[in-house]
Amino acid sequence: MNPRTPRLGVNIDHVATLRQARGTSYPDILAAARAAVAGGAQTITVHLREDRRHIQDADVEQLRAVLGVPLNLEMAATAEMVSIATRLRPAACCVVPERREELTTEGGLDVLGQREQLDPCCRALAAAGVEVSLFVDPDTAQLDAAAELGVPTVELHTGSYALASEPATVARELAALEHAAAHARSRGLRVNAGHGLHYDNVAAIAAIEGMHELNIGHAIVAAAIFSGLEAAVAAMLDAMRGAPA
Ligand code: PXP
Repeated sequence: MNPRTPRLGVNIDHVATLRQARGTSYPDILAAARAAVAGGAQTITVHLREDRRHIQDADVEQLRAVLGVPLNLEMAATAEMVSIATRLRPAACCVVPERREELTTEGGLDVLGQREQLDPCCRALAAAGVEVSLFVDPDTAQLDAAAELGVPTVELHTGSYALASEPATVARELAALEHAAAHARSRGLRVNAGHGLHYDNVAAIAAIEGMHELNIGHAIVAAAIFSGLEAAVAAMLDAMRGAPA
């Protein structure tokens, strides 16, 4: 049991998805970030994708310049993204795998197989004062590889847990995440988690011992259509604490 509720990082990519769908100037990304903070978000997360399908460079620049809370930039380990991140120096960067044809980030990084590519990327980000996090599946070999790269933080991919519906599968995926979190902490890594989390499945993840931060986007932005973003974020914090909906 986690004695304290993890921090909530709100991913506002899909506010930008709505804007890009019509090429309008609304909904306003900065206003969305501020509403999320008013609802209790402790960090704001955006993913600047190679194809710029939602968040644009100008969004990251603006959030970095005026937002009063830490910005977590999700990015692929490419020279272009490293150059943007080392110039803007967000509080944290979560390095994720990226494929153009995917609907959303599918699976964690292959840290073991891509050490050569990840090492200079992580070093450049760390030298710029950015907290580096690697997005990984709950797999001890990948976590060991992350620890060996010397990064301070991992974000555990909760997608398989979130997609599971059979109680036995949910229990197995949760146990894998609990085990991975304990293993990562034993290797000195700070543990975050995210992907596919929603109001009904988040409490068990928030309760994992030592969980530092959860990054949640789609479910919150979807709920915001009915309740407004500030209330949707506050409700997610309640759900993380295990309060009934
Ligand atoms: N964490 C990472 C690394 C992600 O890539 C994403 C999706 O952008 C999230 C968290 C948030 O996932 P969701 O939108 O499903 O809550």
